[in-house]
Amino acid sequence: MHFVKETPAATAPSMLSLHDCLDTIIEGDCCVIMQRFPGNSIDLVFTDPPYLINYRPRDGRTVAGDTNDAWLVPAFAEAYRVLKPGGFCISFYGTSVADKYLTAWKSVGFRTAGHLVWVKSYAAGSAFVQYHHEQAYLLAKGSPKRPRAPISDVQNWYYTGNRFHPTQKPVKALLPLVCAFSLPDEVILDPFCGSGSVPMAAKLSSRRYIGIELRRDYCSIARQRLNEKPTERRNVS
Ligand SMILES: C[S@@+](CC[C@H](N)C(=O)[O-])C[C@H]1O[C@@H](n2cnc3c(N)ncnc32)[C@H](O)[C@@H]1O
Repeated sequence: MHFVKETPAATAPSMLSLHDCLDTIIEGDCCVIMQRFPGNSIDLVFTDPPYLINYRPRDGRTVAGDTNDAWLVPAFAEAYRVLKPGGFCISFYGTSVADKYLTAWKSVGFRTAGHLVWVKSYAAGSAFVQYHHEQAYLLAKGSPKRPRAPISDVQNWYYTGNRFHPTQKPVKALLPLVCAFSLPDEVILDPFCGSGSVPMAAKLSSRRYIGIELRRDYCSIARQRLNEKPTERRNVS
């Protein structure tokens, strides 16, 4: 049974009980909040951090942390620490600064175990080429066991309209990854959870989730989405 509890913004640097954080969206800076989680406690980190591209859609919405990378190493160092040995971290990233992400991930201990591409039927933008895909790295802490039936590294994308967040990820596109890299009742952490798409995918797959988000407005949206009764859900994109 899942319910969404309101967790107050954390201020004191005391340790948090992981149990109390299950199925919650925590408001705050993930670099600080994750320091309060026990090490080696999370089964899967699945996240969509800022792309470091100063993204400005036509509607004027902005993404916190998108203009500087001060959070990059501290956040992934904590993600690595809290992840169980033999666990995976799946992280979307911006292709134009791929080198920054790879350098940061490797510097904190992750090794690359795979690369995933989601193909879009429409162009999300264009410069020298049209942008028809999203991408993420599959990162390993230690040496995870190989799956008996690995999933394809090319996945389908689903249009969301970005109703909840300017860089919203479609829940339907996340579900195959959640199912491939975690088991029912395992704990999935998204330290940059925005409108809660990864927590939604975790909940719909009977996993436990912990979401962290800096902005209060997105925390509220995420909690609302997670609280919706199945009959109120318009779709899972
Ligand atoms: C790319 S968006 C994630 C969007 C999300 N996947 C969704 O579907 O809604 C990244 C999010 O990270 C948040 N963020 C940026 N820096 C952060 C930090 N230090 N701690 C926690 N959240 C942060 C931003 O406010 C933004 O909502």
